[in-house]
Amino acid sequence: MRKVAITGWPVSHSRSPMIHGYWLKSLGVEGVYDRQAVAPEDADLFYRDFASSGLVGCNVTVPHKETALRACETLDDAARAIGAVNTLWLDGAGRLHGANTDAAGFLGSLDQSAPGWDEKPGAAVVLGAGGAARAIVWGLLQRGFKPVHIVNRTFEKAEKLASYFGSDSIAQKWEDLGDLLGKADILVNTTSLGMEGQPALDIDLSPLPDTAVVMDAVYVPLETGLLKQARARGNRTVDGLGMLLHQAVPGFEKWFGVRPDVTPELRALVVADLEKKS
Ligand code: ATR
Repeated sequence: MRKVAITGWPVSHSRSPMIHGYWLKSLGVEGVYDRQAVAPEDADLFYRDFASSGLVGCNVTVPHKETALRACETLDDAARAIGAVNTLWLDGAGRLHGANTDAAGFLGSLDQSAPGWDEKPGAAVVLGAGGAARAIVWGLLQRGFKPVHIVNRTFEKAEKLASYFGSDSIAQKWEDLGDLLGKADILVNTTSLGMEGQPALDIDLSPLPDTAVVMDAVYVPLETGLLKQARARGNRTVDGLGMLLHQAVPGFEKWFGVRPDVTPELRALVVADLEKKS
């Protein structure tokens, strides 16, 4: 029986077991997807000695995405560019391989929910400069968006991220957001603002062209204040749940040999769980 798990510290909140469990069952695949908490002091050894864990692969969540990367023998382009892994698997020879599927999740979600969104890639505005922003900026650059403006409360972090990705990404000050929105084809929130229990994301979308797509990586609540405002003025909107569901697709395919679909039924299952817990 092929066994896979979400690994991190903590892992109790993770919805990955629900997502992969749904696919295992609905596709009739034999396999197990569990949770495995890995304490920070054990992480280095756990990933370096992954072959003895009894798992054929795993997902990696905070705070181990960089530690796990260092234990991999090969990395895909995204993991190398983003500097973190979220998906690992062993090959027949017991070697550990790492991938980052967050950017693919972001892109897959937009492809599904806003078809044609990248037909004429122009300027993008990304709010935030943390781990999620790193994957999303890389994804946008891959699809040809430029410039990708990075707007962050702590300007130095935006500068660091922009310089990491080169001249097609530009660090910007929060007070210039209005001007930037006026020329944007897509706006993405990667900050925690607007998440349940966090302060609201208080921005004025009126300069944004009505053809622009607005995506919020936050998915609790599903319709954030940002998406509500965007929808009311006629912009296409994409919520953060799609990214969570789509980032799981490549891992399942690697471990179990079947490419699963993000179906309305899967989405409804996770939405029901989100509603139960909020
Ligand atoms: P993730 O991995 O989900 O991206 P993170 O690395 O902790 O999480 O990044 C959180 C992002 O939300 C950061 O860009 C952070 O801004 P700072 O770099 O200035 O900390 C942003 N953020 C969090 N709380 C914020 C707030 N109250 N106002 C503005 N930005 C905030």
